[in-house]
Amino acid sequence: MGQEEHEEHMKDSYNRTIEYMRISITDRCNLRCRYCMPKEAIPVGEKSLLTFEEICTIAEQGARLGIRWIKVTGGEPLMRKGCISLISMLKQIHGIEKVTLTTNGILLNEHLDGLVEAGIDGINVSLDTLDQDKYRKLTGGGDVEMVMKAILHGIRLPVPIKINAVSLDEDWQPLIRLAREYPMDVRFIELMPVGYGKYVSGLSHERLLKDMKCRYPGMRRDKAYRGMGPAVYYQIPGFQGRIGMISAIHGKFCSTCNRVRLTSQGYFKPCLCYDMGMDLRRILRETTGESEKKDRVYKAIEQGIKEKPGAHCFDRPEKITEQRHMAAIGG
Ligand code: 5AD
Ligand code: SF4
Repeated sequence: MGQEEHEEHMKDSYNRTIEYMRISITDRCNLRCRYCMPKEAIPVGEKSLLTFEEICTIAEQGARLGIRWIKVTGGEPLMRKGCISLISMLKQIHGIEKVTLTTNGILLNEHLDGLVEAGIDGINVSLDTLDQDKYRKLTGGGDVEMVMKAILHGIRLPVPIKINAVSLDEDWQPLIRLAREYPMDVRFIELMPVGYGKYVSGLSHERLLKDMKCRYPGMRRDKAYRGMGPAVYYQIPGFQGRIGMISAIHGKFCSTCNRVRLTSQGYFKPCLCYDMGMDLRRILRETTGESEKKDRVYKAIEQGIKEKPGAHCFDRPEKITEQRHMAAIGG
């Protein structure tokens, strides 16, 4: 196949169309969320990270295999110098329709205008509680006011902003009200036993949904709306934004999984739960010749997608083979 041709859809062996790549660009973070990163976490050296050129080569080959959407994640992606220029580069790749960002929001306010200028298609802000004390404890010292400032600035800009909240305790009511007050989706994520998530207990989504429906009896499933991922959406009368439930454990969504991941060190991961994957950094750095490089990356991604496991095994933690922490994977 010539370099210019694109596969319309790349299907894995379970007939799932793979069209979404999450790309972690750094394992560094300015926060230390309890379920994600230890206080003493030491980031890998700069040379271990993929360069922007390497990331773009991988994204281009991914696009040839049917990847249409890219999420830039971290650690905290805005900690990496040039994050916004990388977003502009990714936006220019033929076949890539959407580039979005996941951020903890601490550095977001100062970068919002640049992100909009670069053509960002959406921003997900990770925010698990609005309570300043709880936030400070949970994140190892973060200031929730900085995040709220960015959100309130962001909703006035022409870019969709969503809140992602890992469901940790019964503190969901103030968060949900953000969707009432602002035209912004609020999505709850069930805590997954990956990395330090193994040692923290989350709120089950069975319970959360029951409590929400009890508090808001008019809450209805919104079947007409589907995002890029596995969230199930609900509408509450009088609310401007939707409520999303990303129920990795209670609503196992593996049968419709459309995503693959790239770690900041260039390891291509077809599934979050397992260590299995391809070391694209090695391929890129060992191969001489641009077209050979591209060819080998293309083939490795193709093979990774073909070998994508059918489902995660979070219900059998002894079978989880992924040892990396979330900041290295990108959520
Ligand atoms: N389970 C669920 N979500 C997690 N995140 C980080 N670790 C976990 C986990 N173990 C979330 C972050 C952020 C997104 C990138 O992933 O809170 O919202
Ligand atoms: Fe940083 Fe996100 Fe991990 Fe929190 S969850 S420590 S914000 S990477």
